[in-house]
Amino acid sequence: MSALLKASDLRRSFGGLMAVCDVSLAVLPGEIMGLIGPNGAGKTTFFNLLTGMTRADTGTVIFDGHDITSAKPEAIASLGLARTFQNIRLFGGLTLMDNVRVAGRVHARTGLLGGILGTPASRREDRDNTERAYELLRLVGLADRVEHLAASLPYGDRRRLEIARALALSPKLLLLDEPAAGLNPSEKLGLADFIRDIKERFDLTVLLIEHNVPMVMGLCDRVMVLSFGQMIAMGTPEAVQRDPAVIEAYLGGDTHGAA
Ligand SMILES: Nc1ncnc2c1ncn2[C@@H]1O[C@H](COP(=O)(O)OP(=O)(O)OP(=O)(O)O)[C@@H](O)[C@H]1O
Ligand SMILES: [Mg+2]
Repeated sequence: MSALLKASDLRRSFGGLMAVCDVSLAVLPGEIMGLIGPNGAGKTTFFNLLTGMTRADTGTVIFDGHDITSAKPEAIASLGLARTFQNIRLFGGLTLMDNVRVAGRVHARTGLLGGILGTPASRREDRDNTERAYELLRLVGLADRVEHLAASLPYGDRRRLEIARALALSPKLLLLDEPAAGLNPSEKLGLADFIRDIKERFDLTVLLIEHNVPMVMGLCDRVMVLSFGQMIAMGTPEAVQRDPAVIEAYLGGDTHGAA
């Protein structure tokens, strides 16, 4: 099976600090891959390199047959690579509905002019986009608040809105940067099932950064581990959990008896 996403020797440094050091990764269609590693390991920077938000110093990224190494974030999103952010990014002054509708416009065939002139094709597209946004908000459990402002939402609901917005891009690959962060324990429990559900429903491939180890182990087909910018392990959750290099990275040294 050929990879949906192929990163080769990606490197990025900030001043003297090598945040991501020659990382290569192939994500297969349909898999849920976990990305773990200690704080500052380079996980978010790796996502930023894949999504065009940070330029790579060297290396390449191929997504769904396209070389996206130097592509702009919007172009990458419109190819079907969507993400959520560790520090949630929403339009706080827009309604939930508009936050999702804006993302849905990425695939609009009628341009801005069509929208201004209100041509039949653009009106139809608007209507479809609105219906789809509503469906996505219903799916994430926010249908009762579509006209509320995003800024008024509690934290856990903002995370769900962000996922709805990412799904509005009709992604093939969804990158989630710590989706469980800030959720309460019952919300956390439901998240793994929710991710499995949207993966099946939308035929997604998922790459997930998460510190919640039981969740990663239960959810992911494979797990990669970054430490100080380098990939130190890659494999099944069971193999990675037993890997001495991983244990050392997390415990910071002595691995005797740590497993
Ligand atoms: N724009 C930037 N400018 C300078 N240094 C940066 C920048 N972005 C990240 N870094 C540094 O790169 C390293 C990797 O950061 P990154 O945010 O990718 O780590 P992470 O694995 O996502 O950590 P966490 O688990 O805390 O989210 C850190 O030392 C960080 O301070
Ligand atoms: Mg991070």
